[in-house]
Amino acid sequence: MKDHLDQEVTLEGWVRHHRKSGKIQFIVIRDGSGFCQCVMVKAEVDEALWEEARKLTTESSFRVSGVVQQNPRNQKYELLVKNLEIIHLSEPFPITPKEHGTEFLMDRRHLWFRSKRQWAVLRIRHTLVRAIRDFFDDRGFILTDSPILTPTAAEGSSTLFEVDYFDEKAFLSQSGQLYLEPAAAAFGKVYCFGPTFRAEKSKTRRHLTEFWMVEPEIAFAHLEDIMVLGEEFMKHLVQRVLENCTFELEELERDTSKLEAALEPFIRMTYTEAVEKLKGLGSDINWGEDFGGDDETMLTKEYDQPIIVHRFPKEFKAFYMEPDPEDDRVVLGMDVLAPEGYGEVIGGGERASSIDFLNDQIAKHELDPEPYQWYLDVRRYGSFPHAGFGMGLERAVAWICKLPHVRETIPYPRMLYRLKP
Ligand code: 4AD
Ligand code: MG
Repeated sequence: MKDHLDQEVTLEGWVRHHRKSGKIQFIVIRDGSGFCQCVMVKAEVDEALWEEARKLTTESSFRVSGVVQQNPRNQKYELLVKNLEIIHLSEPFPITPKEHGTEFLMDRRHLWFRSKRQWAVLRIRHTLVRAIRDFFDDRGFILTDSPILTPTAAEGSSTLFEVDYFDEKAFLSQSGQLYLEPAAAAFGKVYCFGPTFRAEKSKTRRHLTEFWMVEPEIAFAHLEDIMVLGEEFMKHLVQRVLENCTFELEELERDTSKLEAALEPFIRMTYTEAVEKLKGLGSDINWGEDFGGDDETMLTKEYDQPIIVHRFPKEFKAFYMEPDPEDDRVVLGMDVLAPEGYGEVIGGGERASSIDFLNDQIAKHELDPEPYQWYLDVRRYGSFPHAGFGMGLERAVAWICKLPHVRETIPYPRMLYRLKP
């Protein structure tokens, strides 16, 4: 608007607010890219136009022309209306400024994301998607998309969605990782970014059944390399949002000093150290058990920076993790936990490169070895150390926007009991 000061412009959009008195009407238009107050002064327009504008209801679509001016009271740019044309008069819009229940809003997700907070969140999501692609593209990673219909489990068989695939059974992908590892042998540094699926039966603020994951995989990389990359990556994302989403963050009343803190060096601790710390904080976790959601909340509230936890007990980690040569009870996995109680946003680590070890693991995890033979080829033809991670986009959005639940981080959330709209 600033660039058009004193010029006549035309806007097309929807009515967000309409306030009318006998002499003046204030119409806030939202056009998808932002909001602008339009001011119509009765004395300056003809009677028919004045009456036409009075008909506007919330969310009606309209076209408006006028001169851009700066409001002397709040310095904001606004439009002094010269002409206005109704395109469609909206029926009473179901979402009003009053408090609505979550189910009411979720049933109307296709309308709910017109509201300012949801709009801000999804714009930040968009900024993150671009930042993700730029980060890997600028570092020479090759995008190799992984399939969504797969014959195998990547992350344990308890959260698989099964679909009929002609005469066979297929599963919706839980992670693209198994497909990235062979691609790393072809291209060196690769990534995939797409939807992934987990039949999560738990209702938590962190779980969706369909979510987007970005997964880098690097040949000849070790655990340390991937921890460094994960830290640089998250800082890059935070930096981008701070630079490009000032308006959105303000709208969300996000305390940006908390995000700036994530530009400082991340905290690092082993799983064993994390368990000790958690016990000191009052958790009843024992060594060998996975963190519960409450443990992650407790731990991440202790620090302003994200925490990289590494070297987990092999019992609860995936079959493909490389064992720690210095302690065979643990594997070279790592998670990055976001601060302010958010918890895990990244999971990854170094992959096992020995075929004998992996065959053993497949047996221990009671997986059918046959469908994994192609995956094991990575260890048959020039096996190499490699490492990677996966970041759940929605978890990152939830933390950056400080949202109470991941359901607000994706245009159309899918969860237990939520398949509509
Ligand atoms: O820790 P996870 O299960 O790791 C993997 O899938 C690896 N194969 C990734 C890799 O190394 N290439 O999942 C990775 C991330 C989690 O840290 C979390 O951010 C997100 O995916 N995630 C979910 N996000 C929303 N809803 C769910 N149900 C999620 N499950 C995992
Ligand atoms: Mg994980």
